[in-house]
Amino acid sequence: MIGNFKVILGISGGIAAIKCADIVRDLKGLSAKVLVVMTKSAQEFVTPTTLTAVGADSVTTSLFNDKSDMPHIDIAKDAQVMVIAPATANIIAKLATGIADDALTTTVLALNCPLLIAPSMNESMWQNVATQKNIEILKSRGVKIIGPEIGKLACGDIGIGRMSEPLDIIRRIEELTSKRDQLSGKYFIVTAGGTREPLDEIRYIGNRSSGKMGFSMARKLLERGAKVSLITGPTELTAPFGCECIRIETVDELRDEVLKRYDASDAVVMAAAVSDYRFKKPVQGKIKKSEGPLNLTLVPAPDILKELGDRRSNKILIGFAAECGDDIEKKAREKLEKKNLDMIIANRVDDDRIGFDSDYNEVTMITLDSVEKIPISSKDSIAEKIVEKFIFLKEKALRSI
Ligand code: PMT
Repeated sequence: MIGNFKVILGISGGIAAIKCADIVRDLKGLSAKVLVVMTKSAQEFVTPTTLTAVGADSVTTSLFNDKSDMPHIDIAKDAQVMVIAPATANIIAKLATGIADDALTTTVLALNCPLLIAPSMNESMWQNVATQKNIEILKSRGVKIIGPEIGKLACGDIGIGRMSEPLDIIRRIEELTSKRDQLSGKYFIVTAGGTREPLDEIRYIGNRSSGKMGFSMARKLLERGAKVSLITGPTELTAPFGCECIRIETVDELRDEVLKRYDASDAVVMAAAVSDYRFKKPVQGKIKKSEGPLNLTLVPAPDILKELGDRRSNKILIGFAAECGDDIEKKAREKLEKKNLDMIIANRVDDDRIGFDSDYNEVTMITLDSVEKIPISSKDSIAEKIVEKFIFLKEKALRSI
């Protein structure tokens, strides 16, 4: 049920835009507030007057109007979901590259909520390698895609490219918004990737963390409506849509960025692989090769999670334990207790199928009074289960008050 949610409907210029009146009418039937943003070419297919007549709360066609200095920021603020239907090949390419040259594309860049797109175009355009590459980029950022469907296209051909039916789009919007209020108003700090400790200006000690587990956590929290700051070590991954992404290298930088935000946060999820040691004194320039052995002194790096656990108030702290060999659960539980955490996620890092740099993981979620195993599955679905467990713990705590 959508209720009083604010939904942004972006319309780009394709023949399927004529179905947008139905989308607006159905959303209004579910009591949503519907803000429409149209491109110039969309107005060739459906007029702002039609959309207002079927109930749209506002229709924006330009960045320059007399009602607001910054319509894109006003529209994006507090929206629960944005859907672009139809999404043409052109708009998909613009979204993939971050072009912001009209009211619709600037609104997308200002969003802090899930984005759903319903592609619609000729089959050859859909299958063109450029379009497929752009779709992959959008998927990797967490943009949701519905369709396109197979059927009769505007050009008369039968093939893939039809926009999904308005009712299917509405159902998808309902799915996305039904989870949104579970964590809305909650602020999470999520860490991801590995830290790098410099030896000199060229070399460092690091680890094999890819950032995938932490990015999945951020994505799943965003889907439930949380505000997320994702602090990550070096990675190729693209930040999920709608989060603040801060890139760091060393333990000290990670600690600074976490502490800067800690007081304002409700929960911290530390999926980053953080160095336990660092070089006592990194060398200026490049260490030269010498004949004899090279002795370097490593000193303990700050344990960020332990520091948070020592000064915790009413925050939820979730750690990950990267373990090898036997007694994984026992070793992880020791970390849970020593660092004063609410939950620790134990995972193996001595099995190539899971853990570091894999798309898969196998974990055990451990709290003070529960142990739950999640069999091998994608990092996204592991993250989904961790978020569900978090919500369960939060509700249980509220019930016991
Ligand atoms: O990034 P991927 O390739 O997807 O791989 C995911 C992962 C294997 C890195 C991830 O699932 C994981 O296990 N992350 C935690 C790695 C780690 O540092 O584990 P640890 O057991 O050494 O530390 C326990 C906890 O303390 C962790 O939450 C860690 O972030 C934190 N810690 C550790 C050391 C330190 N100096 N400061 C910390 O805050």
